[in-house]
Amino acid sequence: MVEQGKQLYEGKAKKVFATNEEDKLIVDYKDDATAFNGLKKGTIVGKGVVNNKMSNYLMKMLEEHGVETHYIEEISDRRTVVKNVQIVPLEVIMRNVVAGSLSKRTGHPEGDVPKMPILELYYKSDELGDPMINEDHALAFGWATREELDTIAATARKVNEILKKFFATVGVDLIDFKIEFGRYKGRIILADEISPDTCRFWDSKTKEKLDKDRFRRDMGGVEGAYHEMMRRIGLAE
Ligand code: TMP
Repeated sequence: MVEQGKQLYEGKAKKVFATNEEDKLIVDYKDDATAFNGLKKGTIVGKGVVNNKMSNYLMKMLEEHGVETHYIEEISDRRTVVKNVQIVPLEVIMRNVVAGSLSKRTGHPEGDVPKMPILELYYKSDELGDPMINEDHALAFGWATREELDTIAATARKVNEILKKFFATVGVDLIDFKIEFGRYKGRIILADEISPDTCRFWDSKTKEKLDKDRFRRDMGGVEGAYHEMMRRIGLAE
């Protein structure tokens, strides 16, 4: 049995605990929500449970498709045992449809479909507000090696194809998402979470937003959207 040890870290949406096994951690998902690098703060009731369960469901699905992830075992509604990875300090964003900062940066309206999925890299730094970077920056400052970047890019594109297909079967367009990777026993594996906090989900027919944009943009119906996503993937009534 994995036993929970001392708290190692508290982030904006999760707490991380040591365990009695050196290569395992316990992640505890909170209901706290932030946006704009912590400037906007709030609570989304039940979010921790949704994000824990949805992320685990999707990570298990990705494992079945040959993508190694940090997931080991869900031990409660909000807590999961994961592999103790060293996080690569990059936020990897994949985009299928224009939204959010891509719309602001390019002038293309939200909803435009680019000719191909777009992969972006951001340097993971709260102090700097996660600035967008490119592969040269990552190599030149030693944030990742050439080999790691190649694995990360290929895996991110594969994850996108798997998730896009899956969400289409439940009537949801996967607009974009953010993932993170970790180093584990010499390998690069998928870490962090995949949830309505880190993805944009639009209803395929109505284009209604079913993700954290409802919180970021004060649209209301935030809890309902998270619950609806759970329902779509068969994890709630
Ligand atoms: P963006 O359009 O604001 O750059 O966001 C792109 C995607 O990344 C969107 O699905 C939300 C997700 N995201 C995070 O998970 N964490 C973040 O800090 C930011 C800015 C975006």
